[in-house]
Amino acid sequence: MKKKPIYPMENIKLNAVKLLSKKLSKDGLKCVPEGVHHINEIYDLVKATYPELCDDTLLCKDVCSCGANQPEWKHRVRNIMTRLKNKGRATKGLLARGYWRISWREADQYMDEIAILDATCGGRMIWFNKNHPNTLYMDVRSMPNGTLTTQPNWAVKPDVIGDWSKKLDFPDWSFHHICWDIPHVVAEPNEKSIILTKYGVLNPTWEKDVANGFKELWRVLKPYGTLNFKYADIDIKVSKMLSLFPVQPLYGTRTKKAVNGHGTYWFTFVKIPE
Ligand SMILES: C[S@@+](CC[C@H](N)C(=O)[O-])C[C@H]1O[C@@H](n2cnc3c(N)ncnc32)[C@H](O)[C@@H]1O
Repeated sequence: MKKKPIYPMENIKLNAVKLLSKKLSKDGLKCVPEGVHHINEIYDLVKATYPELCDDTLLCKDVCSCGANQPEWKHRVRNIMTRLKNKGRATKGLLARGYWRISWREADQYMDEIAILDATCGGRMIWFNKNHPNTLYMDVRSMPNGTLTTQPNWAVKPDVIGDWSKKLDFPDWSFHHICWDIPHVVAEPNEKSIILTKYGVLNPTWEKDVANGFKELWRVLKPYGTLNFKYADIDIKVSKMLSLFPVQPLYGTRTKKAVNGHGTYWFTFVKIPE
């Protein structure tokens, strides 16, 4: 850094900024929680933690002849980010401009992280491991063993009861992956049949419900997270279903596995930041 002559007032401000660097080096920016953050959010968190050390009136160009027209303390925060990057604690890879991913834990501490949401777990029939340790199983209902006489072991036992057509109780950007396997049949809730019991029903308000569901699941998905949408076109055409979503899948089933003219589709959506 090419130093500039500093006047007494600037010197006091610069000492504050130096102290900020020292504190941030010591705590390793722990005031920023783990996750993906825009740099402006990181500045806000640092300023909220050390308000007296973040003086916006001391600019980079006041202390360095090649400095920018930006507060010097922000420059120091970026230096710390670079140091964290070298230690593998902060990464920018694959993120949109201005974003950083911060991680404080060692690799083995991610082992028990809930990273996956099954938003329609039902009887977990599609799961190879029905109690996957990194998965949270959700459904709008629960049903005990013995509900289906043909399959006495079948049950719906979600970890949480939740309804994606309404606001879910998870913060934004909670999950890396979401499985969304919605019911296939539109029916009144009191209609009965084995298929309706096993796979649930789309209510007559399905159009609004499914559109809200996508929006809500997209909200709780992390940037670059993936959502797999599984769907059988028994009552609603696949083109109609996909038209409810504000983004299109990246790829998926082009030709269905048809039974009596109906088939199952799988589509993969990736939450690429705009
Ligand atoms: C096709 S089944 C899922 C089957 C499941 N994937 C399996 O492996 O067995 C659809 C499930 O979505 C659930 N469901 C329907 N509407 C829902 C909603 N609004 N929120 C959460 N779950 C819902 C139903 O209760 C039903 O268990």
